Amino acid sequence: MSPMIYLAPLQGITDSIYRNLFSSYFTGVDAAVAPFISPTKKMKSDNVQLRELDPDRNTGIPVIPQIMTSNPDDFTALANVLYERGYGTVNWNIGCPFRMVVKKGRGAGMLCHPDRIESFLEKAIPVLKPKLSIKLRTGLKSSDEALRLIPLFNRFDVDELIIHPRTAVQMYEGDVDLDTFERCLHLSKHRVVYNGDIYTIEDFNTLSARFPQIKSWMIGRGLIGNPFLAEKIKFSTEKTRHEKINIIRDFHDHLFDEYSKILSGPAHITNKMKEIWAYMACFFENAEKIRKKINKTHHRDTYIDVVNKFFDELV
Ligand SMILES: Cc1cc2nc3c(=O)[nH]c(=O)nc-3n(C[C@H](O)[C@H](O)[C@H](O)COP(=O)(O)O)c2cc1C
Repeated sequence: MSPMIYLAPLQGITDSIYRNLFSSYFTGVDAAVAPFISPTKKMKSDNVQLRELDPDRNTGIPVIPQIMTSNPDDFTALANVLYERGYGTVNWNIGCPFRMVVKKGRGAGMLCHPDRIESFLEKAIPVLKPKLSIKLRTGLKSSDEALRLIPLFNRFDVDELIIHPRTAVQMYEGDVDLDTFERCLHLSKHRVVYNGDIYTIEDFNTLSARFPQIKSWMIGRGLIGNPFLAEKIKFSTEKTRHEKINIIRDFHDHLFDEYSKILSGPAHITNKMKEIWAYMACFFENAEKIRKKINKTHHRDTYIDVVNKFFDELV
């Protein structure tokens, strides 16, 4: 059976425009978890975050919305609205490492409080309409936190656990802790999805040889940097370098056009594209050079010139 591949949520990058266009240019991704939204008490239906999850805007890759909150009532209220809009599964983010989030006891700030997680699940699950997927790290400061949480999750009706084997203190750097991941996997009675540092087919092969039980994989930075990676993993097919560059160029131009329609100021569009290039540049040998050149542009016309020159010189 071929592996199931999720596009990871990357706030600021994998929004609905990115996800929809991704599925027009690349294959191999089965589903995407959307970047988190935080419920507010009076969330109106035209709320910007909710509009991102409008089914009409999400016609490409099947999407699992993600919610980040420590309040079970806010979570279920929003998750049930999303269920009515057609989302059969909703993801709970208890992995976000950012200081402001952690300080408020949300995201990874929950990981060292099994009591809070338990009472959250006790309150949320009986009234929750969609299936529950949970995305977590191995801990806030120490990776044994997840080991205490897995037996707790086992008592609840959870659809899947997506585990990024780093602590929040590590942010996105340092080694992934595969030994702790393995212990979580043995302890869990739920389906476990592996997430972290898959950049190449070799990374994937090493991980899938070590964890043959894992059927679902989530990839973030590795897919933004090499959008052909999922195709290679799933179908073992590979285009020529020339074909790939042409496809990436078309994808880039299409993204630029779509973002230009919604971002008005000249700096808005260049800032948006810079965020994407921060990861996308990895596809090219001279990544740092092109990143630097793009980061110096502040106007759309200069940006277009720099990018066109870069692509023209590649072919
Ligand atoms: C810029 C950025 C934004 C992210 N936003 C989210 C988010 O909204 N929700 C979430 O669960 N994880 C978020 N993550 C974490 C990724 O989903 C993923 O867990 C992490 O990058 C590790 O996977 P990777 O090595 O395949 O990228 C973000 C990561 C980055 C780098």
